Amino acid sequence: MLAMPAYFTPLGRAYQGDARDVLAGIPDASVSLVFTSPPFALRRQKAYGNVTAADYIEWFWPIAEQIHRVLREDGSFVMELGGAWNPGSGTRSLFTYELLLKLGGIFHLAQDLYWHNPSRLPTPAEWVTIRRTRVKEAVTQIWWFSKSTEPQADNRKVLVPYSKSMKRLLKDGYSPAKRPSQHDIGPSFQKDNGGAIPSNVLTIPNTRSYDEYLFRCRAAGLPIHPARFPPELPDFFIRFLTNEGQTVLDPFAGSNTTGQEAERLGRKWVAIELNPDYVAGSRLRFEAPAAEPVRAAA
Ligand SMILES: C[S@@+](CC[C@H](N)C(=O)[O-])C[C@H]1O[C@@H](n2cnc3c(N)ncnc32)[C@H](O)[C@@H]1O
Repeated sequence: MLAMPAYFTPLGRAYQGDARDVLAGIPDASVSLVFTSPPFALRRQKAYGNVTAADYIEWFWPIAEQIHRVLREDGSFVMELGGAWNPGSGTRSLFTYELLLKLGGIFHLAQDLYWHNPSRLPTPAEWVTIRRTRVKEAVTQIWWFSKSTEPQADNRKVLVPYSKSMKRLLKDGYSPAKRPSQHDIGPSFQKDNGGAIPSNVLTIPNTRSYDEYLFRCRAAGLPIHPARFPPELPDFFIRFLTNEGQTVLDPFAGSNTTGQEAERLGRKWVAIELNPDYVAGSRLRFEAPAAEPVRAAA
């Protein structure tokens, strides 16, 4: 049985609690998309708890099994997971790959995507800016898992604007020719499909220093979540992998960017977050905009 939500909206419910406990109350095969960014191993040590990289898989596994249970047969589980550096060394931990292999035992890997954030700071500073022996990290992996080999998906819903050269080609026409790869480019390339098919590298800067969420948290004296998604990230996967009226779940919701985007796109949503302050801040995302100040009559 599900506990009482901390808050709800016309389409969604947010729960404050441990994902392991709250997930247990969600019915089997009721969710079309789980979209989440779990606490990363090293971040957990710093800010969220005390699970280390070595314990991470053991901690995450019961949650992965619950996610599998609540997903519909054609559902998807999309997870953004930053890698970790081995403490005190300029080498990478392999725990994300261990986790990937283990998750491959119960899910299919439909595709791996990369979030390219051009505004990322040059970390780890010791190796990138002081010793200058590593380059700046600018991508995080996004794994798209599915329960079956045919998850619901439609790339026509996430087309991106055509490049300048493609627009020119559509306007001026094209003489069929071979590309350097020796592939024939035929007349079908001249059809305007309303946009280009995106690649698996999603370039989205994460630099917002002002938005309604920040403003409202500050005004309410609540902490601002330090690891928020840019809204474009959940927006892309929600449109790509679900239809209106289907359910999106974020079991590590933080400031609940996922829920806000799901609501905007007409999807039902469920959010789970352990930290009560983050839940309180996320609720402010759904408050009606403040009315214009009433001017005193002259
Ligand atoms: C990387 S953040 C997610 C941020 C989110 N994507 C956003 O846009 O704000 C991960 C969140 O998981 C929460 N968390 C950690 N352990 C949890 C657990 N056992 N159950 C539910 N939430 C948990 C943390 O408090 C943190 O807010």
